[in-house]
Amino acid sequence: MKLVVYSSQFIPGDISSADVLEDIRIISQDWNQRNEITGVLLFQNQTFLQALEGPDDKVDNLMQRLSSDCRHRNIDILVQLAIQHRYFPDWNMATIDLQNEALFAQDTLAKLIAAYRKNVRITDAGFITLIQSMLNNSGIEKIIN
Ligand SMILES: Cc1cc2nc3c(=O)[nH]c(=O)nc-3n(C[C@H](O)[C@H](O)[C@H](O)COP(=O)(O)O)c2cc1C
Repeated sequence: MKLVVYSSQFIPGDISSADVLEDIRIISQDWNQRNEITGVLLFQNQTFLQALEGPDDKVDNLMQRLSSDCRHRNIDILVQLAIQHRYFPDWNMATIDLQNEALFAQDTLAKLIAAYRKNVRITDAGFITLIQSMLNNSGIEKIIN
């Protein structure tokens, strides 16, 4: 199995980011469940941060399709790890729209990604733990789709 975490930039078009997220959620929850992919998709300030994990060939296949999706660009793979166990076993690609959310500051995703890029102290495992801890935030159920 492998785990991939990447960031990308939403390409604004006729459809709002909220509607695009909902569209992605419906497609992903169906396809991912049938293909043993678990993970989460976060969105804030035109930035997607997605963690996905599963069998190598299934993850590769999904990454290939994702890369040609014209709703986002600048796919930047932050983490790519061979894994023995899942980090997000209970998450069927929940989409979490952090836009205009009081729960997290509006620069949460940007800061998380910048900290990881600087690579000062955060290891792959630390980065994944940070994403997991966001999901464990007690108020987050209300904004998970
Ligand atoms: C940020 C982002 C994340 C996505 N995540 C998934 C996903 O986890 N699973 C999935 O099947 N499709 C996902 N999609 C949608 C795919 O890129 C693609 O549109 C969809 O799988 C249909 O593929 P097809 O048009 O080649 O049939 C995502 C799209 C974007 C923009």
